[in-house]
Amino acid sequence: MAELIVALDVQTRDEAVAKVKEIGAPVGFYKIGLELFTAEGPDVVKAVKDLGKKVFLDLKFHDIPRTVERAVRSGGKLGVDLMTIHSVGGKAMIRAAADAAAEFGAAGPKILAVTVLTSLDRGDLEDVGIVGRDPADQVLAMAKFATENGAHGLVCSPKEVGSLSKALKAGTLFITPGVRPAGAAVGDQKRVATPADAVRDGATHLVVGRPILAAANPADAARAILAEMG
Ligand code: C5P
Repeated sequence: MAELIVALDVQTRDEAVAKVKEIGAPVGFYKIGLELFTAEGPDVVKAVKDLGKKVFLDLKFHDIPRTVERAVRSGGKLGVDLMTIHSVGGKAMIRAAADAAAEFGAAGPKILAVTVLTSLDRGDLEDVGIVGRDPADQVLAMAKFATENGAHGLVCSPKEVGSLSKALKAGTLFITPGVRPAGAAVGDQKRVATPADAVRDGATHLVVGRPILAAANPADAARAILAEMG
């Protein structure tokens, strides 16, 4: 059964807490990203955890293994449930993140790898030395590399989740943003899928922001998406 994660893309702790309370019971999982965490720090993670919710801390770590290991440990101490790293940080960094997460046991954070940012095209990859490879091929190669080295799952586009879920081992987590309920505004997302499509293709967690946060009734909007997820 796939889970819905609401992207808490707001600027302050107070707004975050108000949104979580307003959405209420239907949603049990929230994503805290760079904007909110840089503004409010671990207090906002604690506040969301104190409301009984799970937290996906999306800070996309990419640093030397020791630093990433210690940052993951800090996340584990905060009770974070999912955390992101960049797979291009290399084998030792991915393993260090997974090992730090494992210290917290089954309830500890799960490590998700970012493969290729969806904002990058073939030309952008060439600029950073990845020559002669389409983003899709690079995504698959990095997905295998990350999960073989300890990552529990991947952040991927709903357009990629079908092929990735077939290519990777059972039990891999697939977290997909870019999800829009049928008929909803797409915003700046270019490659979107409906909740039903994403789940059918193998997504284990859907990340949805504006269609819920900007709705006149966010709780109803969340319930409608959950119904579409089946
Ligand atoms: O508002 P919306 O549903 O588009 O929010 C999607 C969330 O997922 C945002 O927090 C965005 O930063 C994040 N995300 C994304 N696409 C990616 C990676 C992350 O939309 N490739």
